[in-house]
Amino acid sequence: MGKETPNENLTPVTAASLSKKHILGIENMPILEINALLERANYFANQPKATFSTILANYTVLNIFFENSTRTRVSFELAAKRLGASLLNISISGSSVKKGETLIDTATTLNAMRPDILVVRHHSSGAPLLLSQHVDAAVINAGDGRHEHPTQALLDALTIKRTLGRIAGLKIAICGDINNSRVARSNMYLLSALGADVRFVSPSTLVSPFFSDIGIPVFTDMEEGIAGCEIVMMLRLQTERMEGREAPSQREYFQLFGLDSYKLQKAAPDALIMHPGPMNRGVEIDSKIADDNNKSLISTQVELGVATRMACLEAIAGVKL
Ligand code: CP
Repeated sequence: MGKETPNENLTPVTAASLSKKHILGIENMPILEINALLERANYFANQPKATFSTILANYTVLNIFFENSTRTRVSFELAAKRLGASLLNISISGSSVKKGETLIDTATTLNAMRPDILVVRHHSSGAPLLLSQHVDAAVINAGDGRHEHPTQALLDALTIKRTLGRIAGLKIAICGDINNSRVARSNMYLLSALGADVRFVSPSTLVSPFFSDIGIPVFTDMEEGIAGCEIVMMLRLQTERMEGREAPSQREYFQLFGLDSYKLQKAAPDALIMHPGPMNRGVEIDSKIADDNNKSLISTQVELGVATRMACLEAIAGVKL
C-alpha cells in the first residue's frame, strides 16, 4: 500500500542465525533472533525476487498441511522456490492419513525420504513439536491448533515496522476470537517483546483469564479497547474450533465486536487495520474498512509473508547443515 516506507536503517544483512534447529513458536525465541529474522526478511522484501535463487539449492522442503491454507502454504512455496529449494506439497486428503496412518507414522515415512525442512500445519496444538521429536528434518510450525503461528507474527511485525518505522511504544489492539487464535498468541509474544503496548479486545467467552493473569490488558468493550490504538488487528471468528455457544449470532457479533467506520473513530486518527486472513466480511470486519487502501495493511501482510518465510527457511537451513 502507498503508506509503506521501507526502513533504510535495516541495512543488508546476512542470514539470521538461530540457536535451535526448528521454528516452533515465538514464546521462547530470543529477541536477537527475532530481530535478525526481521532484518533479513526486510532485506529480501527490498530485493528483486530472482536474486537469491541458489541459496537453498540442494535443499528439499515438504509442505505438510493437515488444515486448509492459502496464504501460508503458497508463500512458503514461493519462498522455497525463490531460494532455489525443491518444494513438494503433500496433500493430506490424498495421503495415507485418510487410511488411518498416525501423525508420527506419516512423519517418519516422509522423513525416510530425507527432506531437509518440514513445514507443518496441524489442527492439534503441539503437533509440530511432537513431529520435531521424531524426524531428522528441521520443522517449521505453519500454525498448530490454538497454540502458535510464528511466521504470521513475524510477517505482521515486519508489516508494522516497514509501514510505521517502529513497533516500540505503539498501542496495538488484537480483537476478536482470542482463545482460538494462534495468531493472537504469537503476536502477543512478539509485539510485546518488541516493546508494543498490546491489548486484547474480545467477548468474555472468547478470552481466557490466563491472558490478564500474565499481564495483557483485556477489554470486553470494543470502543474502549481500541481507543487511541495506532494498530487495530482483527481476527477471524474460528467457528470450527468452538465447542458451544462461545459467540453470539454473527449479526450480534458484528454489532458488538465487528470493526466498522463508526467504531474505528475511537482508535488513533491514522489508525491502520490488519487481519491475518481469511476474513469473514460482515462478521469481524466491514468490507469498506478491509478494502480501504489508506487504512488497510492486509495486502501488505500477504505480500511480506514471502520475504518473511524466505528468511525463516534460510535461517533454518543454516542451523541444520
Ligand atoms: N493467515 C493464514 O494463516 O492464512 P491461511 O490460513 O490462508 O494460511
